[in-house]
Amino acid sequence: MSFTLLESVAAARAHCAERRGAGVTLGFVPTMGALHEGHLALVRRAAAECDEVVVSVFVNPLQFNDPGDLERYPRDLQGDAAQVRAAGATMLFTGTLAGFFPDELGPDGALPPEAHVAPGPCALGLEGTHRPGHFEGVATIVDRLFDVVTPARAYFGAKDYQQCLVVQELARRRGAPDVVVCPTVREGDGLALSSRNQLLSAEERERAPALASGLFAARELFRSGVREPGQLVAPIEAAVEAAGFELEYAAVRDPGQWTAEEPQAPLERAVALVAARAGAVRLIDNLDLGEG
Ligand code: PAF
Repeated sequence: MSFTLLESVAAARAHCAERRGAGVTLGFVPTMGALHEGHLALVRRAAAECDEVVVSVFVNPLQFNDPGDLERYPRDLQGDAAQVRAAGATMLFTGTLAGFFPDELGPDGALPPEAHVAPGPCALGLEGTHRPGHFEGVATIVDRLFDVVTPARAYFGAKDYQQCLVVQELARRRGAPDVVVCPTVREGDGLALSSRNQLLSAEERERAPALASGLFAARELFRSGVREPGQLVAPIEAAVEAAGFELEYAAVRDPGQWTAEEPQAPLERAVALVAARAGAVRLIDNLDLGEG
């Protein structure tokens, strides 16, 4: 299968229109680059389910509430292109904010508030509280990415649990595409793969599996019959604190119904979510306590 690398949003839009016109079913994997095995799993799944696979690489400034985080975010376009090609992608594109929003950007180069897409109620609480504006930035770029590619299916990783809910809601509002959520890929010691992992020092990396260990301990409690939210989050808090990381939140939610606030009643189904800072690096993870 041939592979095309495009460095313009307009060229990507034209390419996708041409392929759809030829009757091709497009799968889409949106990313911010610095790709790892988790992204490649999405590309392989898309390649197995669609005729052709488009990958985007765009470090979206709209979704970074911390300028230092945006600056530090790792970038490697050529490496990314080689990896997705080997995993079965047929096109990778990148672009600039002006390329994505040619008619909307103001003279200061910023996107005016009226051009932003509201992310809906799943953006409230947890990540939405700790990263103000983040999901608005995600919804705005994903909405535009869907316009550019107009895929039949789009693939997202379950590690970004709340992002998946926001994107599913966006796709429902738009009427397309089908959103396929794929399992989190983990290192052998449990650490969820993330582009930010490469920013950890060797010593932080050794302690980083604490988030997953806490989630696994919560799953053991759930399996033993514990249903109280406070009891389920306790081992996650303990594991993160024992690792010396700064806990942002450890929480549980009903996977069937997002709530901004922690549920008070015992949960018959539960997903546990955690965010913590290891030095300058922010890590998130989650686990469906009823699965596996
Ligand atoms: O998950 C990501 O990498 C980003 O949030 C996404 C979906 C590509 C939007 O910028």
